[in-house]
Amino acid sequence: MKIDVTFSSGQLDELQLRDRNIIVIDVLRSSTTIAVALHNGAREIIPVASIESAVKISGSLFGEVTLRGGERNGKIIDGFNLGNSPREYTFTNVNGKSIIFCTTNGSVAMHKSRYARNLAIGSFVNISAIVDYIREINGDFQIICSGRAGAFGNFSLEDAVCAGMMINKLLDDESIQVDMSDSARASLLLYRNLGRSLPKLLKTCDHGQYLADIGFAEDLKICGSIDSVPVLPVLSGTVIKLKKEESRQIDLSVTPQEKQSP
Ligand code: MLT
Repeated sequence: MKIDVTFSSGQLDELQLRDRNIIVIDVLRSSTTIAVALHNGAREIIPVASIESAVKISGSLFGEVTLRGGERNGKIIDGFNLGNSPREYTFTNVNGKSIIFCTTNGSVAMHKSRYARNLAIGSFVNISAIVDYIREINGDFQIICSGRAGAFGNFSLEDAVCAGMMINKLLDDESIQVDMSDSARASLLLYRNLGRSLPKLLKTCDHGQYLADIGFAEDLKICGSIDSVPVLPVLSGTVIKLKKEESRQIDLSVTPQEKQSP
């Protein structure tokens, strides 16, 4: 399988992504938030590219089962129900709900990828589920790092390290042949150099520092907790849903609230 990594969704054209196998990564915080929301019972996530789209779509869906979630500059959007902190997406808040999701970079990358053949949403919190998914499909994959819109440019070190960790896990599996593009190889090197301490990485990267400065330091711990939310958010039609693995025994004895991740 060929693995390529795109370091920012800004230059991507949705037609280029048609019929591709895609993983979208936005460690801080959209991919993490989506995994937590679906794990806590959200029915589906509808990623949109603009606030206007979010308002238009929520107007046509049934209000009581639809929430608007997302951020601009890391903070909740006026008129939205939820921001983009994974800690807001509790069982109480999201169980059974459809969530129209609008963030600066993550939901834009997901929206651009809506014509993919296969699309999953990956982060550190569900990285093993993502790697199993890649193995199961066993085809060429495009890993899209959402990047960031910041004063210091739009490369997200944390997203690239997460991509590198995925690639490293694939390389550990001798049953598959992995051919890496230069950007995939660069991501692997970044992981091997910086992946040993995710707390330090997330505290020192551009967006991690910004989030801590505006009061979201707690989110960094959640976003850096490897396999703490072992779910597989995948594209289902035009929305993101949980792929329920028939082979994976889902512990129904404990309600999501008791299992509730942050
Ligand atoms: C993004 O989409 O750029 C991030 O998720 C923004 C954030 O949550 O701060």
